[in-house]
Amino acid sequence: MTQEEQKALFRRAMEASRRAYAPYSGFHVGAALLAEDGRIFTGVNVENASYPAGICAERSAGTAAVTQGCREFKALAVASPDGEASMCGICRQFFSEFSRDLAVIYGKDEEHLTARKLCELLPSDFVLPKA
Ligand code: THU
Repeated sequence: MTQEEQKALFRRAMEASRRAYAPYSGFHVGAALLAEDGRIFTGVNVENASYPAGICAERSAGTAAVTQGCREFKALAVASPDGEASMCGICRQFFSEFSRDLAVIYGKDEEHLTARKLCELLPSDFVLPKA
């Protein structure tokens, strides 16, 4: 992916973050997931009064994609107007199910982006042992 493509995906994530529902943390996050077939799925964090019932922006985007029959992903950008959002452990494991080579793009703004492969962010994922 070129830097311009990374920035464009990050912009989609930042746009989505405007629709985040984050009344408890005040941390608004958007994610933009680029599938291998070129489709882009967005997601936001959706919090809940029962805190653990909330979901991160990354998994919102991932579940939207899988719902549409898409399971192969190239890149995921994560953005927040409230500060840098680096993907949490649960989301790393979630995407590891589908694309170990996923490029994860994040940073405080589009001029300060970091791109890391998911397998670097989660070197040892959980895989269910075969019975
Ligand atoms: N959050 C995300 O949506 N993605 C991240 O990468 C980090 C954290 C959300 C979860 C919660 O709604 C809020 O940010 C504060 O943790």
